[in-house]
Amino acid sequence: MFPDFFGSARMPTFLAPMQDVTDVNFMRTVSNLGRPDVFVTEYLRVHPSSRLEKSHLSALLDTDLRSPVVLQLIGEDEFHIRRILDDAKKYPQIRAVDLNLGCPAPKVYRKNVGGALLKDPKKIASILSAMRDSWQGTLSAKLRIGFQDDSLFETILKTVLDCGVDFITLHARTVRQLYRGKADHSYTRRAVEICGRVPLVANGDITSWQSAENVVEATGCAGIMIGRSAMRNPWIFKQTRERFEEGKKPEDIFTPTLGDVRIYVDEIMSNSLRYKPKPKNLPGRLKKFLNFIAVGVETSGEFLMSMRRAQSLDELLHICDKYLVSDGRSSLPIRLEPAENLCSRPNHEG
Ligand SMILES: Cc1cc2nc3c(=O)[nH]c(=O)nc-3n(C[C@H](O)[C@H](O)[C@H](O)COP(=O)(O)O)c2cc1C
Repeated sequence: MFPDFFGSARMPTFLAPMQDVTDVNFMRTVSNLGRPDVFVTEYLRVHPSSRLEKSHLSALLDTDLRSPVVLQLIGEDEFHIRRILDDAKKYPQIRAVDLNLGCPAPKVYRKNVGGALLKDPKKIASILSAMRDSWQGTLSAKLRIGFQDDSLFETILKTVLDCGVDFITLHARTVRQLYRGKADHSYTRRAVEICGRVPLVANGDITSWQSAENVVEATGCAGIMIGRSAMRNPWIFKQTRERFEEGKKPEDIFTPTLGDVRIYVDEIMSNSLRYKPKPKNLPGRLKKFLNFIAVGVETSGEFLMSMRRAQSLDELLHICDKYLVSDGRSSLPIRLEPAENLCSRPNHEG
């Protein structure tokens, strides 16, 4: 069972933590458009001089989000992790903490944190035991199936369970895979079996309410976490709720239009200005999102390619208007699934 404060959904949905994406402003946008049952902050790197930062606190303490926010930590030093947890205890609003055991970015795992810890179950045990010892609230871990391969998969899961976590999230890829290939949810199914009564949240390539339904049916997971597809389709949590909680028929599920997407683009812009108020960064920030949005709009790749080539904000918005609202497009539905022939971005983020 998930903790009560995660709400009463039969199949809770989580917005995945995404560095430089899931700040409080993006969380607010997603909350307004579809609201997941649970948010997770981008990771807070724990090192000797780290503190709970304003960017994390603003999400953790925000009262407009209407769903709880889990604080995610990444690190390997038990002393400093305990110190951050002591800081977190000063805020009663912070009720859940997660340990990142999956980040594949070389600059991160070379420091023996994130995904690198999957090579060392003993180290995982000592970090998570220290966390369990000093944190009375909800504790979880977000992991991948292994570092290089799956040889330690069961050992890692059992180690994490033995530390007394309240739930586990599994991104069904190895660290070495980065974001390549497809998440293999046969591991999710095995993890569900191994976890027993401890809830397992499935993550990786859940791209629509339909694909969420497939993953739930195939794995028996207790919750679903969605990352990149929420950038493309922030209504995905609403759609999933309509299907799972309200039992709507496919044809009755809310379908956003390209006009809705154009309004979402404006929202990203105003959010980004609040987040890093430097207009010169805006085209880059917007392109980060448009990389995902474009593959939900059309399959020729023209939108994707022309937005990537755009040199200015004006040009970018002109391109958005062309593909989203001109010639009566605004009332067309967005695609349920991303175009398979197009690649949103290089495969090494996060
Ligand atoms: C831009 C980006 C940043 C990410 N940052 C984090 C992070 O801070 N912590 C984390 O646990 N995972 C992070 N991830 C991984 C996601 O949480 C998620 O596990 C992964 O994207 C697979 O889910 P998806 O297929 O629904 O996107 C990041 C992923 C992306 C694309």
